[in-house]
Amino acid sequence: MDRTFAIIKPDAVAAGNSGNILALIEKSGFKVLAARKQHLTRPIAEGFYAVHKERGFFGELIDFMTEGPVILLALERENAVATWREVMGATDPAKAAEGTVRKLYGANIGRNASHGSDSDANAAIELAWFFRGYELL
Ligand code: RTP
Ligand code: MG
Repeated sequence: MDRTFAIIKPDAVAAGNSGNILALIEKSGFKVLAARKQHLTRPIAEGFYAVHKERGFFGELIDFMTEGPVILLALERENAVATWREVMGATDPAKAAEGTVRKLYGANIGRNASHGSDSDANAAIELAWFFRGYELL
């Protein structure tokens, strides 16, 4: 079975959409291996998004990801990385397909309701950033 790492971002948590997003995740065949609500600090968010630190939107992204609590999720399913990215939809909610998390709950390309790992290798790195081995048994 494959794993991916997901975040329900601060906009979706604040708007009360986490329950609906979790329901969509389970309806899509994922098992929630681990879940934790956490208000990220700037160092934690900056470390997580380090690959984007040279991008123009980095400051805005860190402000957003630290503005309120998020829900961190370890998800398991066959073909987990690609399937979760499909369920989330395109980064820009305006370009996301009907019924996807970002189409339903995202506001714009920055405030887009959810995160998903983009490869198996990054899923392993991101899961290890937020969860301990024994939490993913
Ligand atoms: P994510 O990592 O959050 O799952 O999103 P993604 O792969 O679809 O998109 P990525 O290129 O990795 O960008 C990470 C997050 O940065 C914000 N962003 N803002 N203002 C902008 O032009 C812009 N572009 C990206 C979004 O929150 C995006 O999810
Ligand atoms: Mg990404």
